[in-house]
Amino acid sequence: MNNPQQGKKLVFRCQPGGCLKGEIRVPGDKSISHRSIMLGSLAEGTTHIKGFLEGEDAIATLNAFRAMGVKIDGPVNGKITVQGVGLHGLTKPQGPVDLGNSGTSMRLISGLLAGQDFDTTLTGDKSLSSRPMKRIIDPLSQMGADIESTEGGTPPLRIKGTQTLNGIEYQMPMASAQVKSSVLLAGLYAKGTTCVTEPAPTRDHTERMLSGFGYSLDRQGAKVCLQGGGKLIATDIDIPGDISSATFFIVGAAITPGSDVTLMHVGINPTRIGVINILRLMGADISVDNERDIGGEPVADIRVRSSDLHGIVIPLDQVPLAIDEFPAIFIAAACAQGETVLAGAEELRVKESDRIQVMADALTNVGVDAQPTPDGMVIQGGAIQGGEVDSRGDHRIAMAMSIAALRSNAPITINDCANVNTSFPGFAEKANNLGHNISVK
Ligand code: S3P
Repeated sequence: MNNPQQGKKLVFRCQPGGCLKGEIRVPGDKSISHRSIMLGSLAEGTTHIKGFLEGEDAIATLNAFRAMGVKIDGPVNGKITVQGVGLHGLTKPQGPVDLGNSGTSMRLISGLLAGQDFDTTLTGDKSLSSRPMKRIIDPLSQMGADIESTEGGTPPLRIKGTQTLNGIEYQMPMASAQVKSSVLLAGLYAKGTTCVTEPAPTRDHTERMLSGFGYSLDRQGAKVCLQGGGKLIATDIDIPGDISSATFFIVGAAITPGSDVTLMHVGINPTRIGVINILRLMGADISVDNERDIGGEPVADIRVRSSDLHGIVIPLDQVPLAIDEFPAIFIAAACAQGETVLAGAEELRVKESDRIQVMADALTNVGVDAQPTPDGMVIQGGAIQGGEVDSRGDHRIAMAMSIAALRSNAPITINDCANVNTSFPGFAEKANNLGHNISVK
């Protein structure tokens, strides 16, 4: 990939002011991109994908399957062709599989590797190497998997093949789509029925895509079950734009007087639209137009015009539905009148960074009153100053803080931005096309 933003410690220097205007299409959905490679690889037949996210995380998944013998052509302009090898056609990779920064790759791939007849080692970068894996090791071990991690339950993971897996009934202790998906993917290889019950709804792309590949699932309320031993039939996949990437421009337009932005062809799966619900409660002017169904996923164009925002207590039921969007929502809160309170979001502490602490530090550095709590944050709306902040290598923090500059009174410099390329290659350029002023060094 020809990537102008490549280089380890990229710095974003963001000029204050301006507003966002125009129409854009954000890159493909990251969650769906991962799953398209996984299920396409394990299917019988050829899967054609379009709209694939050419970001480092999704490419890490693609490379992992190439390393396990799957022939994958592309990506070329988001188009990929996967020659599926069937559920039992993967081959042992030559060495450890490096999944970079991508928690989704590691947790989902672990589930299906538990059912292979070869051993594998999964590694990651510094951030991924400190993320909790016990949450998947526990249920997968109950199914019969043999997975070793560090003593602290972090990667590298050594997954032993030739284990007999048995279906389980698993009550997830946390609302995690990655854990749910990992168990369901292992369930494809298990004897009998595998069921997962979630404490609150989480993104359901795995379930939708399994159905799209002809695998039958039984969903009843919070519980989803499947029988092992079936097969996946190749299909074509059209991946919508990622609402998590669109969020930066949704918030940017909402907070900046004079803005009017339309985000074309964005996925609006009901398990992902917490950000729209939360911003509307804060007074944002967001319209969702041209709703349509593309391959089992709802898609729409989202128009946002600036408006006065006010602080709210974020409803608990919206938290899992907006879990990746909080760095940007915190910026909306900083620009709102009054206090915004987030609770029930302890999962933010184990994302690519501790997003509660890192965002509280970054907001404090630019003069915002942001008090971290164990499971959330209390933010007082007010003026945003200029300053220098550190994204701690977290893509979403880098992008959120760059959007904050639209309302700051002096430049904001953001360090350690290279990982923006994990989810949103070309972010700065797209933001600048809409009217922002970010220089990348
Ligand atoms: C994802 C699930 C979420 C989300 C992550 C992508 C997925 O993680 O934060 O960015 O694709 O399943 P959790 O399952 O840990 O909540």
